[in-house]
Amino acid sequence: MGGRGQAVSDGAARSLLRIEERADRLVVTLDRPEKRNAIDADLVAALHELCARLEREPKLLLLTGGTEGIFAAGADIAQLRERDRIDALAAINQAVFARLRALPMPTVAAVDGPALGGGAELSYACDLRICTARAFFGQPEVRLGIIAGAGATHRLPTLVGETRAKELLFTGRRVDAAEALRIGLVNRVVDEPAELLDVAHELLDEMAKASPLALRLTKLAVDAPVGAHPQIDLLGQAVLFEDPEKHRRMTEFLDRKKR
Ligand code: COA
Repeated sequence: MGGRGQAVSDGAARSLLRIEERADRLVVTLDRPEKRNAIDADLVAALHELCARLEREPKLLLLTGGTEGIFAAGADIAQLRERDRIDALAAINQAVFARLRALPMPTVAAVDGPALGGGAELSYACDLRICTARAFFGQPEVRLGIIAGAGATHRLPTLVGETRAKELLFTGRRVDAAEALRIGLVNRVVDEPAELLDVAHELLDEMAKASPLALRLTKLAVDAPVGAHPQIDLLGQAVLFEDPEKHRRMTEFLDRKKR
């Protein structure tokens, strides 16, 4: 009855995430290089812990596989092969990616090398993506006899349009960095892997200049279903109009103009 490969750690597993804490952000590196950062139950558990931490204490997130030429090779196929229908219904990867997607503050994936299957879906679960010129994305699930069940069927059409998404999901064709940029799958391509994280930090630095509450409410509004507009925007703005931070920022602007 299911249970195999569930997203629970036995507590003995080594951490598969390296986490660097900064004042305004966490920098999180997937750290299972021997399996090309394949996402197994322990990594899912570590991602849940990360999400819990960012839900408690909202910060920006930079999520990367590092700059050694791999983002993530997808769900762990050895575990995936053994999972049954009860495991599928437990939404193991789906749930943690949805949790990541719903984090309060913006998230950026920095991708160097392959982001395949669940690895690509992990990057789609972030708000923005940047990648190196040698990065590529792909959804090979149908060739393994499964669907891309951890977000690609709905996030990919939103990102690149239904026509392109269907081609990628039906064929498993890989998208290189240039195409990813052209079709809007990534925000930037960085030529040199050594510069990937600097460029990602520059993007986060721009966001860090914003009022954190304005960022949070903007993310909530952008991610809200169409039917929730304009009410969600009105409520968000109502909260912000009475936020002292808004008053301070606008006063600072006006005073600067007077000088
Ligand atoms: N699940 C489990 N193990 C994986 C894996 C995955 N998704 N991807 C890679 N690995 C393991 C390999 O089995 C190998 O293990 P071993 O050293 O014990 O034999 C190790 O990681 C290195 O993989 P290898 O294929 O030799 O690395 P590479 O650098 O030549 O190629 C990839 C990297 C990502 C292109 C290739 O590993 C790959 O295509 N992986 C599968 C991608 C996929 O289909 N993902 C969809 C899953 S839904």
